[in-house]
Amino acid sequence: MHESVLLTESIEYLNLNKSSIIVDCTLGYGGHSSHILKQIPNGFLYAFDQDSKAISYANKKLKAISNNYKIINTNFVNIKKEINEKVDGILFDLGVSSPQLDEANRGFSFHKNAKLDMRMNQNQKLTAYDVVNNYDLNSLIKIIKTYGEEKYAQSIAKGIVKARQKAKIETTSELAEIIKQNVPEKYRRETHPARKTFQAIRIEVNDELNVFEKALKDALDLIKVGGRICVITFHSLEDRICKQIFKEVSTLPKELKNLPIIPDEYKPKYKIIANIKPNIQEINHNKRSRSARLRVIERSR
Ligand SMILES: C[S@@+](CC[C@H](N)C(=O)[O-])C[C@H]1O[C@@H](n2cnc3c(N)ncnc32)[C@H](O)[C@@H]1O
Repeated sequence: MHESVLLTESIEYLNLNKSSIIVDCTLGYGGHSSHILKQIPNGFLYAFDQDSKAISYANKKLKAISNNYKIINTNFVNIKKEINEKVDGILFDLGVSSPQLDEANRGFSFHKNAKLDMRMNQNQKLTAYDVVNNYDLNSLIKIIKTYGEEKYAQSIAKGIVKARQKAKIETTSELAEIIKQNVPEKYRRETHPARKTFQAIRIEVNDELNVFEKALKDALDLIKVGGRICVITFHSLEDRICKQIFKEVSTLPKELKNLPIIPDEYKPKYKIIANIKPNIQEINHNKRSRSARLRVIERSR
């Protein structure tokens, strides 16, 4: 089952009151959402996910608490289209859930043999199979290097292209083996050599970084004065996007910095509230949390 990361901290930072209107952009298995719903008996929860399986599980969990919620089965990139009111809080808990990773037939994991898939939304057309078998060499190098931060991107991508000339690469195990054969012996012993490449392909299949950047900018517009956005990220590229956007909207433009008095209309609309990592107890208890980070911003005017 999925164990929610930074649960207590993110709920606390959302500053809930009984009537809060909250958007959970990543419902998953309902860990955060069920805690939120319990604390807002007179409020309302909108919850997004693009994975129908996660939704049907979470729906049962939320139903047992109250009816003050609506699950929206779509990509959270559509947040502005779907939410037609200003809200008190928005949560992003990015990435995939443990059940998505653990379920062999979703094709996310190099530990489990399955067809190459990696789609969070199973109605989507693009799959990991398409990326691995149809993208040209340079695109593969770019993806593996940028999204995977993999130092052997070039030799891995070349290995993939060479292998698929003989036969299509169908499964996670075939791909993991090709990756293994195209990194130095020493690297194979340090960590699982397929980890970063699998992450890169997953990010490409789900367009995770572009989608998050657009949604986070839209989320800033949906927040009421005094409302907060909490973002939990799991790798440095997602975190960098969040950090940069939060910095841009919470700092004074350079040309105004030296003015003796800053007129209210030029003051930043947002202020940064927190930037924290899980404590050591959580990391010891849940290994998945070790790369997590929570950033929080508040609308000040
Ligand atoms: C880390 S899990 C969330 C876990 C949840 N907070 C909990 O405590 O149970 C991330 C969830 O967000 C969903 N997700 C990720 N990116 C999404 C997107 N762009 N649009 C909609 N759902 C997304 C995934 O399908 C997954 O179920």
